[in-house]
Amino acid sequence: MQEKLEKIREQATKALESETLLKELEDLRVQYLGKKGELTAVLRGMGSVEPEERPAIGKLANEVRENIEGLIDKKKKELEKLAQEQQLDEEVIDVTMPGKKIRIGKMHPIQKTQEEVENIFLGMGYEVVDGREVETGYYNFDALNLGPDHPARDEQDTFYFTRDMMLRTCTSPVQVHTMESQKPPIRMVAPGKVYRSDEVDATHSPVFHQIEGLVIDKDITFGDLKGALAEFAKSLFGDKAKVKFRPHYFPFTEPSAEVDVSCVMCDGKGCNICGGTGWIEILGCGMVHPKVLEMAGIDPEVYSGFAFGMGLERITMLKYSIHDLRLFYENDVRFISQF
Ligand code: DAH
Repeated sequence: MQEKLEKIREQATKALESETLLKELEDLRVQYLGKKGELTAVLRGMGSVEPEERPAIGKLANEVRENIEGLIDKKKKELEKLAQEQQLDEEVIDVTMPGKKIRIGKMHPIQKTQEEVENIFLGMGYEVVDGREVETGYYNFDALNLGPDHPARDEQDTFYFTRDMMLRTCTSPVQVHTMESQKPPIRMVAPGKVYRSDEVDATHSPVFHQIEGLVIDKDITFGDLKGALAEFAKSLFGDKAKVKFRPHYFPFTEPSAEVDVSCVMCDGKGCNICGGTGWIEILGCGMVHPKVLEMAGIDPEVYSGFAFGMGLERITMLKYSIHDLRLFYENDVRFISQF
């Protein structure tokens, strides 16, 4: 009996000393200490041991059990530590390594100008209104007093879906939608894309951006228009910017004007940007035509107003001395990231 116990101890010790995997440890525990294990089998045979020898054998059996249990625990801790070290080795993180640089995008220069213009007018109490890019003939032409023979209606100039549905050619139709849906006083700007059947070159694109402005109230005069646009030019181009109103014709305003701003490059002295004149045209404007007011349901005897519209590409090109409009649409990050 004693020999058997010693043998079990010896075997178990050997087995545990040799290299073992963590999951095999449990098998060893079962093999030696489990209910059907070797040590248990020996203890079951205690009946055949002489009574006077029993205490000694019992003591030895306990010793052997504790011994094996101790060895298993020790081995388990060793293996766990080893596994952890291995894991740490594999998952090494070098906190001194430089991080991956995240490239942050920039706002597109047209968007930037748009927001700048919006903010200037928001500061003067205007609201920003959304328009629609697909319009009917009524909103794009008729309601703006562009008669059936107006050249802008030509198939060569406008993108038509059907005879009466088209991509808007300017942002002016938003004036009409606003007048139809809001009661005066109205003070709004409406930015967005507009479409014309133009070939792409350094100054033309079939898609470009405009921002429209509309003010309707009692007693609005041309003086209000001049004041608003002079203030706008100063805010956008700097305090030295002056504006000049040249008489012009638009069907939806009367009187109408084109506005020049003193050249931002030469301060009005004359350079190759302004063609030596000292002035650069930036927008069209005028007093809203009584017919346009009337068609939109506003009484021209009670109310008057002014409107203006400008191209955002043109203003952005001026602001940053960009000479080719195509740069805006090519989305070359070397260009875009400069703004
Ligand atoms: N819609 C004109 C265009 O696209 C620009 C314009 C001129 C808008 C005069 C206006 C205005 O509101 O009063 O050329």
